[in-house]
Amino acid sequence: MDKIVVKGGASLHGSVEISGMKNAALPIIYACALVEDKCIIENVPDVRDVALSLNILKEMGATVTSVGKNAVEIDCTELRCGTSRPELVRKIRASYYLLGSEFGRFGRSTVAYPGGCDFGGRPIDQHVKGFEYLGAKVNVDCDMVEIESEHGPVGANIFFDFVTVGATINVMLAAVLAEGTTVIENAAREPHIVDLANFLNTCGARISGAGTDVIKIKGVNNLHGCTYAIIPDMIEAGTYMIAAAATGGCVRLTNVIPKHLECVSSKIEETGAIVDEYDDSVVVTGKDTVRKANVKTRPYPGFPTDMQPQMATLLCLADGVSCVTEGVYEKRFRYVAELQKMGAAINVDGRSAVIEGGKPLHGASVEAVDLRAGVAMIIAGLCAEGTTEISQIHLIERGYDDVVGKLKSLGADIEKVSYPD
Ligand code: EPZ
Repeated sequence: MDKIVVKGGASLHGSVEISGMKNAALPIIYACALVEDKCIIENVPDVRDVALSLNILKEMGATVTSVGKNAVEIDCTELRCGTSRPELVRKIRASYYLLGSEFGRFGRSTVAYPGGCDFGGRPIDQHVKGFEYLGAKVNVDCDMVEIESEHGPVGANIFFDFVTVGATINVMLAAVLAEGTTVIENAAREPHIVDLANFLNTCGARISGAGTDVIKIKGVNNLHGCTYAIIPDMIEAGTYMIAAAATGGCVRLTNVIPKHLECVSSKIEETGAIVDEYDDSVVVTGKDTVRKANVKTRPYPGFPTDMQPQMATLLCLADGVSCVTEGVYEKRFRYVAELQKMGAAINVDGRSAVIEGGKPLHGASVEAVDLRAGVAMIIAGLCAEGTTEISQIHLIERGYDDVVGKLKSLGADIEKVSYPD
């Protein structure tokens, strides 16, 4: 079994390059299933979820070729609809983008019900609503999701009951080749929604409004190949920003889009650190003390739910009582029990966690309960007295490219250690 071992006490200094965004790369990889041509995707992060998704497409008949560092050529000309392997599909949530791509290209789809992190119920009712508005008959059971239609997707106006990244993406994928125009209202506005729209438009789609809550998609007859670079990962960037603030260090993050980080930067500055913004980089300078703050996670441009465990860890160091409220998922505080093993004083009540800062953290053996919680354990270990051992690190590797190497280059005392099972 592999573990990450962190010795606390070092403050981080230096420069780190941010990788391509996992949650932008995944929909774009599955969007290639719509294209009967070669697509070259650049700035692809080297993370488990990407490798798994490329394998799923390969097993379905796609040709996937590495064409350089962090670049891959995907040709889905020979893709066979409905042939994804359930055991692979169930490992992650993003595999459910196959539903939109298969329905969009073939007029039907059969995919195992998706997996993904355990944040409570993660229903797909809005995905189903979108597909049905586009003319599909959708059958969902605990094992499989099946989509049928008489003659493929037909454009429609869809108003989501609430903001959902996944359903916005899936309807975009289903609608690009539809007959007629689709309008999505109450759409998610995340940067990776814009990135997907830009990729699809580069392939010949006609999408406008991505990044706002109204997205219009004019169906086209087919898409052609292209070369496209993924945007930088704002969540990876936010994670290193918080690590710099928590350790009282000074770190430059390169290959970022500061605009995407505005909410995170503002909240980090509220805790006392300084964030200097440049064209494609930010510099975070931590202070000796961390100020308390309250945060509620919201869809973009609000504070990202995927930054919640990292921010809560920073607030464990604060000079007072802070409150973290999870506004997106039913439950996303499983990591609190792990922080409590390290001495954190946190009380969870429903969707809120009250954090009594200033209790010194000490090293412990803890578990990564999901990828963002896992990286929060690393941040806690960097700030703790003594040594912290983190298990289940394959979850961290789902979404962080070389996290040990990057932190080591910033001065962290951190190693990946293999233990006999
Ligand atoms: C994506 O998940 C991300 N995953 C998540 O990142 C991220 O936390 C989330 O968006 C919010 O930003 C990927 O991109 C692979 P949603 P997704 O559809 O698509 C409920 C990470 O750490 N909902 O916006 O599942 C749902 O249960 C991961 O990288 C319905 O009820 O997000 C959840 O509570 C974790 N019905 C909330 O909405 C639906 O039909 C957000 O879902 C759809 C969603």
